[in-house]
Amino acid sequence: MGFPSADIINNIIFNKHLNSGRRFILPDNISQSIEKCLESSNSDINNASHVLKDQLRGNYSSSKHTEYTNVAVVDAYTIEYLPRYFFIPHIIFRDLALCRELVGFGITIRILDMGSGTGAVSLGVYDLFSNDTFNDYSVDLVAVDKSEAALTRQFCLINQVGFRYDLFHCEALDISDIDKVSQFLKRNKPWDIIISANFIVELDVHIQKSLIALLSRYLSEFGSLVICEPPQDYAKIIIHNIADVIKDSGLTVYYPCSAPWSCKPKKVKCWIWRDYDIIDPIKPISREDESIELNSTKLQMSLVILNKCNKSILEFFKNNRPDLTWSIVSPKFGGFYEICPSHKTFYSDKPYNRGDLVGWREGSNGTVDVVVHERL
Ligand SMILES: C[S@@+](CC[C@H](N)C(=O)[O-])C[C@H]1O[C@@H](n2cnc3c(N)ncnc32)[C@H](O)[C@@H]1O
Repeated sequence: MGFPSADIINNIIFNKHLNSGRRFILPDNISQSIEKCLESSNSDINNASHVLKDQLRGNYSSSKHTEYTNVAVVDAYTIEYLPRYFFIPHIIFRDLALCRELVGFGITIRILDMGSGTGAVSLGVYDLFSNDTFNDYSVDLVAVDKSEAALTRQFCLINQVGFRYDLFHCEALDISDIDKVSQFLKRNKPWDIIISANFIVELDVHIQKSLIALLSRYLSEFGSLVICEPPQDYAKIIIHNIADVIKDSGLTVYYPCSAPWSCKPKKVKCWIWRDYDIIDPIKPISREDESIELNSTKLQMSLVILNKCNKSILEFFKNNRPDLTWSIVSPKFGGFYEICPSHKTFYSDKPYNRGDLVGWREGSNGTVDVVVHERL
């Protein structure tokens, strides 16, 4: 049968529940399990939630060292952030499925989740693969984090939801100890997918570079390394900082754009992020006499998929429409959209999102005439 197509995965993501359109809806079994695993009082969770928000969403300019040892902080993260980052694996596998080589997995897919925390990624992976379409595959997932409290929560959630976790392992490891990480990776290689979600920003810059170089060595032949970060300037600066290591490690960008190493320094803030304004408001979590409500319903992230086999998502679109040049839409300035990697611009009063794909032709006076517009 082979790995499901991107269209099939899109249907699983968006049409699982009737009339969901293009909205992500957190499955009931996940929200119920979150509710059951919480340990702190509502007021402690609300206080921890304010602290986390300042740390994670504030405009920081250097590595953050958020501690996830306190149970109220773990509770707050589980309620506030996990429901959105839960969809990261769905998006990754959907994007990868556009390139058949990158999803040419064996029957067991080996996934490493670095800085795994309370398990947004592992829950998302198991949720996706619990769909019958993936019956031919099993997932061997290893979650690594230095916070035992976060890993305990992750285990509790997986258990509560009732996912089969015979192939789930978690390991407490300080990832800034590069020698230990190296030993760990050697013991467990190779990996089909390595995911680092909302984690790189927590490391010092020199560790970020050593880690990327190391991880690239332990990917399987068509394996992918995925880095997701919040769309903040600091995260974009990091991607630019580590761009040389990424390149020297033989990795190329599959999606969205290769901007980190082709952009001029003035464009340092241009690294593409994706902004899905489409998460259904998550139901209030009712406990004791109060309820806790999620503040934000947006899924915003910079997400870059790297591989060692020089694949670009643009190939898929080129195969379908070889008569067009294909590019990825970057930021908008005064009605002008820039497209990468050509760095040409076009004017439109129609809304395009960062990361959208356009198939275009050059007009008579050198203009970009967009013929096809695709949104993933
Ligand atoms: C913002 S959370 C992200 C959790 C999860 N990946 C997600 O997207 O929801 C960052 C995680 O990185 C972990 N972390 C930070 N520094 C670490 C280190 N040096 N070694 C291992 N884990 C680390 C923290 O304990 C925390 O669980």
